[in-house]
Order: sequence, then structure tokens, then C-alpha cells
Amino acid sequence: MPEPALNEVIEQSLERIDLGERSEKLARMPATKFWVDKFVELAYRLWYSFERHSFVIAMTIGFTRLQEYLDAIARKANLDPANSRHGVFWHTTYRAFIAGNVPNKHCNGDVVPIIDPANAVNSAFNQILRGSWCAMPQMPKTGPFLTDDGYFVVLADGSRVEGPTILADIEGWLAAGAPENGDCQGPPPAPQG
Ligand code: HEM
Repeated sequence: MPEPALNEVIEQSLERIDLGERSEKLARMPATKFWVDKFVELAYRLWYSFERHSFVIAMTIGFTRLQEYLDAIARKANLDPANSRHGVFWHTTYRAFIAGNVPNKHCNGDVVPIIDPANAVNSAFNQILRGSWCAMPQMPKTGPFLTDDGYFVVLADGSRVEGPTILADIEGWLAAGAPENGDCQGPPPAPQG
């Protein structure tokens, strides 16, 4: 994002500062203009860096939001994951989820960690929601799949989230080190009634 021209912002801000007739002389003094410029520049820099930081921070979901996504995917699925041999393995505590294995699933004879300790983004559940993984079918088994055109889920609070957003949020969460509390728990609940 290109940084907006600072001079323009300062000039526009100065135009809006009305010091009144009696202070016109003061306003025209070079020292006054210098300090007003400095003040506006500092305020602007603070605001701009806050905007950039909050943009980056707001991209990370938390564990509760992940659980809401997986529940919504399960609700929409043709089959119920509760009937699979792995069950609803995300219905657990954050700590158990982070350190646990996908129940009853193996890949090349090895257990499948829920979060890949070597590379979180490579975690099996992230991959298998996008396509077949380790000779197992894409999840949820028989679909609908997050990669289908027009796929979306409706969360418990009534908000609608598209498949690509869910996948990006999950990947962003893993890339951020799978924090328990994200910085964005999604939009506030829709007004009821
Ligand atoms: C690493 C993660 C996962 C792996 C390795 C995996 C693997 C499998 C496999 C091999 C099956 C077929 C055998 C069985 O029933 O156990 C299955 C079934 C199923 N899985 Fe997954 N799965 C994963 C995550 C998920 C997630 C996140 C969901 C949904 C949110 C899901 C939904 C289902 C459903 C609906 C079935 C079919 C249940 C039935 O047959 O009635 N799975 N899974």
C-alpha cells in the first residue's frame, strides 16, 4: 500500500485549523507553523502505523473460531464426523488439540499429529480440507467441500463465511503458531429479532 503524500495531509489539516482572527498573527509565525506541522506529522504517523498493525493483527483467528468453523463444516456435511473413527476430535481443550493426534488415523504407519510440530501449515487437517491427503479422501468425506465453487457456511451467530476465507483463516492461524487467542474472533453477532 503506497504511503499517502504526507505534505497533502498536513496542508489539508492546517486548512481545517481555525485559530480565529485575533490569533492570525500567531498562526503566521514560522515557529507556530513549524510546531503545528510537527504535531500533525506525528499524529498522522501514529495513525498510519496503527492502521497497518491492526490490519496485520486482525488476520489471526483463535482456537474458538477454529472450532466454530469445523462445527459449521460438520453441520453442512453430507455425513456426520461423529460417526467417523476420528470423531469430532476438535471438541477438546486447546492444549489437548495442540499436542494431540488425530484419533485412529495413520499415515504410512505413523500416527497423525493434529498440528505438525515441524511445520504447522503442513498439518494434516489443513491439507485434507483442501484435497486428498496420504491416500485418504478430502474431508468432510463425500462433501460438500470447502474448495467447491460457492461453498459457504453459516456460523452459530448467523454470519456467513465463504470457503476460501475459512481456508485462509485456518492457514493464517497455523502460520501464526496456532495461538489460543487470536486477534480477530470475527464480526460481532448479527442483531437478533
Ligand atoms: C487430519 C484430519 C482428518 C483426517 C486424517 C480424516 C480422515 C478420515 C477418514 C480416513 C475417514 C473415513 C474412515 C472413518 O470413518 O474414519 C473420515 C471420515 C469422515 N471425516 Fe474425516 N478426517 C480428518 C478431518 C475431518 C474434519 C475436520 C471433518 C469435518 C469437519 C471430517 C469429517 C469426516 C466425515 C463427515 C467422515 C465420514 C463419517 C461417516 O462415514 O459417517 N474429517 N475421515
